[in-house]
Amino acid sequence: MREEMKKRAGEYAAKYIKDGQVVGLGTGSTVKYTILELGRMVKEGIDIIGIPTSKATGQLAESVGIKLGSIDEYPEIDITVDGADEVDPNLNLIKGGGGALLREKIVAHASKYEVIVVDESKVKKVLGEFPLPIEIVRFGYRRTMNVLSSLGCGPSLRMQDKTPFITDNGNYIVDCKFNRIENPKILEEKIDKIPGVVEIGLFIDMANEVVVGKKEEVEIMRRP
Ligand code: A5P
Repeated sequence: MREEMKKRAGEYAAKYIKDGQVVGLGTGSTVKYTILELGRMVKEGIDIIGIPTSKATGQLAESVGIKLGSIDEYPEIDITVDGADEVDPNLNLIKGGGGALLREKIVAHASKYEVIVVDESKVKKVLGEFPLPIEIVRFGYRRTMNVLSSLGCGPSLRMQDKTPFITDNGNYIVDCKFNRIENPKILEEKIDKIPGVVEIGLFIDMANEVVVGKKEEVEIMRRP
């Protein structure tokens, strides 16, 4: 059922893409459906350039025939479609469950319009139940984690096959369980000041629309 909701949201968002656009391509199991749909649209003749937010997304997009470019070649992106781990009523997001938050944030910041695709389980009144992913440099990571825990979270170094998960940028990810993030903006400012932190999975005032996949329809959330 959840997979159907993801598919419904992901495919719906492909309708936002117009011929000739530079399109940011997010990462994850929901936006995958947007990318597959865009692949079909490319076969039918639409001409777009995709800017991938991860190596995995780049490979998927190429495999379905989407032409790729880099953000350095296309610093202004018309529209980006991406997933999220949590969405609040103000369209603030937690992202980074797939470890691609740094590139996702750079691409979101460069985008004129950011569309987020989620299934309905991701919509929350308050962010923070999902552990907040934070990308940190490897040097001094234990100390960085100690400083993070002093902000009231339980930080845990993300692992993969018994070794630390390494991002596309060569860094570590720490997942910080806050439970309730009452003021995402203030928290982001505090974390940003910690040496060793590269990027934070809080996306504040970045999403223009969220497409929520439900059992039988999609709901569109817009920033209040
Ligand atoms: C990738 O780092 C994340 O920001 C994803 O966009 C997010 O985790 C959503 O992924 P799913 O659509 O797979 O849940």
